[in-house]
Amino acid sequence: MTSFTRTFPDGFLFGTATASYQIEGAVAEDGRRPSIWDTFSHTPGKVANGDTGDVACDHYHRMPADVAIMTDLGVDAYRFSVAWPRIVPAGEGAPNPAGLAFYDRLVDELLGAGIRPVVTLYHWDLPQALDDRGGWLNRDVAQWFTEYTRTVVGALGDRVSNWTTLNEPWCSSVLSYAIGDHAPGHHDTLESMVAAHHLMLAHGAAVPVIREECPGAEVSVTLNPTQVWGPADGDDLDADAVRRADNALNGLFFGPIFHGAYPDGFLDDTAHLTDHAYIHDGDLRTISAPLDNLGVNNYFPTRVRAARDGEDGRNPMPGCDGVVADPPHPPLTAMGWEQSPESHRLIIERSARESGLPLYITENGSAWDDTVDADGQVHDAERVTYLQEHLAAVADAIEGGTDVRGYFAWSLLDNFEWAYGYDKRFGIVHVDYDSQVRTVKDSGLEFARIIAAHHDR
Ligand code: FCB
Repeated sequence: MTSFTRTFPDGFLFGTATASYQIEGAVAEDGRRPSIWDTFSHTPGKVANGDTGDVACDHYHRMPADVAIMTDLGVDAYRFSVAWPRIVPAGEGAPNPAGLAFYDRLVDELLGAGIRPVVTLYHWDLPQALDDRGGWLNRDVAQWFTEYTRTVVGALGDRVSNWTTLNEPWCSSVLSYAIGDHAPGHHDTLESMVAAHHLMLAHGAAVPVIREECPGAEVSVTLNPTQVWGPADGDDLDADAVRRADNALNGLFFGPIFHGAYPDGFLDDTAHLTDHAYIHDGDLRTISAPLDNLGVNNYFPTRVRAARDGEDGRNPMPGCDGVVADPPHPPLTAMGWEQSPESHRLIIERSARESGLPLYITENGSAWDDTVDADGQVHDAERVTYLQEHLAAVADAIEGGTDVRGYFAWSLLDNFEWAYGYDKRFGIVHVDYDSQVRTVKDSGLEFARIIAAHHDR
């Protein structure tokens, strides 16, 4: 194995990341009620193998042991999400003390281990009761989200200072309402625009609530920007395809959140669908509430080109008719995702320019077809290489002048990978789903070495 020799600034945080529905299980315990992911995963044909998050990594019952694994890895911080359907099972109204108690214990366990909690308020598990009332398509969701936020931050804000409103609103809108791969699984481009707007409105409305409940909080949102590339020999049509795709993938969130406006061309490119009446006066001011840092999740670049000569150019992403996906360039991960440390650096630099904020890489990692070998270990050489190369890209960005303050490996544990179920393993720790035995993979050992070298410097 090549040894990793790059260094990071003092105070740089190394962490791992997870999300509630992907690891917790215990979906009907202590007052939790269903989320849209319970409904979706229990709908035949939506998730590979009919997998659900009913048990997942059983983290809800094994939390102290999982924190102990992080202690062994030596991580500085842990990014987890709070399950809204545990805290406010009906979506709005009375909070559920038993649900809050779990996160209370988790925070105390982390602090006792010297690990900083970094909390995401929404990582995709909307209470089903709210989806029954329109979910992210109902403008009232901003109010529901701020009430939920007040409850969580009010309960944990005395010990948690790193708060993130949303994880990857692109996935909760375009992937969920237009492409249909994620809950609630709709196929309507206009709906995805409305959902994106309401997600951002909920985010912006929650920011001052977090500050009220937790003075001194560091408030952020996590986006999943992606470097968009056209063909090397592309013409003007391809350049326009890149522009449209970039708007639908990146500008849709960078624009309103950091510039107080939808990106150039976006409203015109979608004017055949709507008069955009869902954008009310004052919304963009709410949405662009100042933040303290930006979370960046990035795994792969995106390649597109223009549809040609009668080719089917229909594309569900807003403003993207005529934009065709180009195949990723090898080497690919088990997800079929292109590995490009260069695109990782470029999108980090772009995110810093767009936001003007310090960044945390809140997720990065790769899936491989891991096996536990005869020696009882998981020799995931490809994941080690991916980790080293992407951390080197972060170091390059920092040396180039970009303010990156931390890196969270996705993921601490193999877990429920959404529509892929348990087929795709992203963990630096292997999970045997029959026995729930955890085994630190070679990538986990390498991450621990990198962290130890950083601390010993
Ligand atoms: C991100 C999600 C995370 C995980 C990784 C692989 O889009 O935020 O939950 O599924 O992808």
